Amino acid sequence: MNKKNIFAIVLAAGKGKRMQSDVAKQYMMLSDKPILYYSLKAFEDNSAIDGIILVVGKDDIQYCITDIIKKYGFSKVHKVIIGGKERYESVYNALCVIDNVDYVLIHDGARPFLNDIIIDDVICAVKEYKACIVGVPTKDTIKVINSEGIVDTTPNRDTLYQIQTPQAFEYQLIKIAYDKLMMKPLKNVTDDSMVFELMTNHSVRIVEGCYDNIKITTPHDMIFAQSILDSKKAD
Ligand code: CTP
Ligand code: MG
Repeated sequence: MNKKNIFAIVLAAGKGKRMQSDVAKQYMMLSDKPILYYSLKAFEDNSAIDGIILVVGKDDIQYCITDIIKKYGFSKVHKVIIGGKERYESVYNALCVIDNVDYVLIHDGARPFLNDIIIDDVICAVKEYKACIVGVPTKDTIKVINSEGIVDTTPNRDTLYQIQTPQAFEYQLIKIAYDKLMMKPLKNVTDDSMVFELMTNHSVRIVEGCYDNIKITTPHDMIFAQSILDSKKAD
């Protein structure tokens, strides 16, 4: 049997500056559980996921172990490691503690509404294409503007997707891509696919996500997130 070893990397080492709250946003409560709980739960409950690497700030390790992992019985969390200053450094730290893994799904811990369908679709696509990302068609018109705030171009909306996580890769390929990045760090690395696109010759496949799979970033997103959660409970 050709059983593949599939790990999720859940990123929760950010400071959440745009949220402007006392508690880092991934630990803020949504209903009666911290935001980070929801994505860990989705990976824990998906039978294709073999293990989880959780990346957190150094002062939050104990809280995560006691108040999240043990409390909710997340048995798939193999390691809780310390992240870096930038998101890409947190990802790299996780890639460096993994071995014997075929595929990794890299996910923002501040994105609580990923679901089983997305995880299954991503796994199916990464097995075929080696790299895949989740996205939804852009609803708004997008403009490229210059430094004076003047519109430069208007890309055809049919070609534009808003990109979410998880982003999934063949482990060996994303590790090589990140090794290259770390030798010569770039500015404005906003997602893992960008590293993969710049550092390898492989193409990246889009998997249709859902508009609910938001990243909680600003205080307004908390209101939005609570209403998404309430609507799921009402289902
Ligand atoms: N993240 C991380 N390590 C970092 C920065 C971010 O693990 N050095 C994680 C965050 O915890 C979050 C995800 O990456 O789950 C997406 O990042 P973002 O939404 O930008 O979160 P923050 O960096 O925490 O927020 P902000 O940019 O507003 O400070
Ligand atoms: Mg950030």
